[in-house]
Amino acid sequence: MARKKRTLFVCSHCGWETSQWLGACGSCSRWNTLEEVVVQDDDGQKPHKSRLHPAGRPPLKPVGLDDIPVSDADRTSTGMGELDRVLGGGMMPGSFILLGGDPGIGKSTLALQWVSLLAGEKALYVSGEESLAQIRQRAKRLEVRPENLRLYTETEIMKVIETARAEKPGILIIDSIQTVYHNALQSMPGTTAQIRECAALLMQLAKQENVTVIAIGHVTKDGDLAGPRILEHMVDTVLQFEGEKQSHHRILRTLKNRFGPAQEVGVFEMDNGGLSEVANPSELFLSEFDPTVSGNAVVCSMEGTRPLLIEIQALVTPTSYGMPQRTASGFDHRRLSLLLAVLEKRCGWEFGNHDVFLNVAGGLKLTETACDLGVAGALVSSLSGKAAGVPVVMIGEVGLGAEVRRVSQLERRLDEAEAMGFQRAIVPKGYSGEGRKMKISAVGRISDALRTSGLDE
Ligand code: TYD
Ligand code: MG
Repeated sequence: MARKKRTLFVCSHCGWETSQWLGACGSCSRWNTLEEVVVQDDDGQKPHKSRLHPAGRPPLKPVGLDDIPVSDADRTSTGMGELDRVLGGGMMPGSFILLGGDPGIGKSTLALQWVSLLAGEKALYVSGEESLAQIRQRAKRLEVRPENLRLYTETEIMKVIETARAEKPGILIIDSIQTVYHNALQSMPGTTAQIRECAALLMQLAKQENVTVIAIGHVTKDGDLAGPRILEHMVDTVLQFEGEKQSHHRILRTLKNRFGPAQEVGVFEMDNGGLSEVANPSELFLSEFDPTVSGNAVVCSMEGTRPLLIEIQALVTPTSYGMPQRTASGFDHRRLSLLLAVLEKRCGWEFGNHDVFLNVAGGLKLTETACDLGVAGALVSSLSGKAAGVPVVMIGEVGLGAEVRRVSQLERRLDEAEAMGFQRAIVPKGYSGEGRKMKISAVGRISDALRTSGLDE
């Protein structure tokens, strides 16, 4: 039968489809995001239709909740506690995991270590980025020789799926989703249409054959997982690998998980022998903390279900030329401006003619407002030149009126601080601190917090 051609336009941001070119996407209203996709059908059928409704499949019947077998017991441990944690307590068979991160952060290394830990599980590693010799080199460096592992350098998705169906691995790794392609689409590998089509086929494979699929994906300059965001909607779990390349710490964060809590973090260290888990992350993030130096403060951030103690460093210096600079790494820039504005307007601290640099130690990105009080403390401490002298953990959200507002899970945060040997904590007012070994100061305003901790003049 003659091949039929169809032209579609697909939005590279949200995946919206239309048969006609438009300047702006009809769904997300972004300009110039529509990409032309030529779909070629071998058999004259639309590929979507034939794939989603395979011939001969028995009709499905609605079922009750109790009729569904409980499968949580099927989770397999990866043998690495931090990895199990981000997966929600182990790996679910038949799940589709997207592993994203900057180039060179260690995604391929993690994937290779991951399979070598699952010795009993047959694994197929599909690499479109590296040669077999390069992978062998890496395995040698990691000192792993996984006997369960088969390597494959095919990038045509139908061949990959055929091979996976024949080999029946328990775990399939696609390194990376941007290098695989489908023959029926004429666009380049890595484009929206290709990524979406390949991911849909892999998802189907995962569910039908009960294979755990780990697809590695690159991250764009903006920090989004490259390709369409719709990939994030399709998959079961999205893991993001973060960290500064210069430092040895790596953070694996769950952005989405259908089988466990999101925003969970796992902390790893990268050295010559590959990645190793960090058993006590608070200890790592506080390893160089010195309470006698001004500009430092310790906050407690809930990362997923785990409280972490993290050091904040601020440097406030008089501006040399014209415009004062504000630089924040690991902390939201706008939140920093807000805190500076509150400190200026409500507490009388003048930052107007000072450069402000803020850094979160260990390459972690803080998003919780419970860290506000500690950040304000570090900023004022650097400006005043006063240090607390003893380790104090500062917990509280700062409101626009300079009030210290309550935060969730205060008890768990204080438990972690006590476990790390902290003797003092500053918390929002209303907390009695009964039964605590550490000294608790409950404050209503930022000025009280700064006075109690000895950070102001
Ligand atoms: P890689 O896994 O290739 O990154 P990705 O797949 O995310 O692009 O990791 C590359 C970096 O990791 C490289 O800069 C070297 C470093 N590395 C180590 O430090 N130790 C090791 O044991 C290995 C294998 C890599
Ligand atoms: Mg790689």
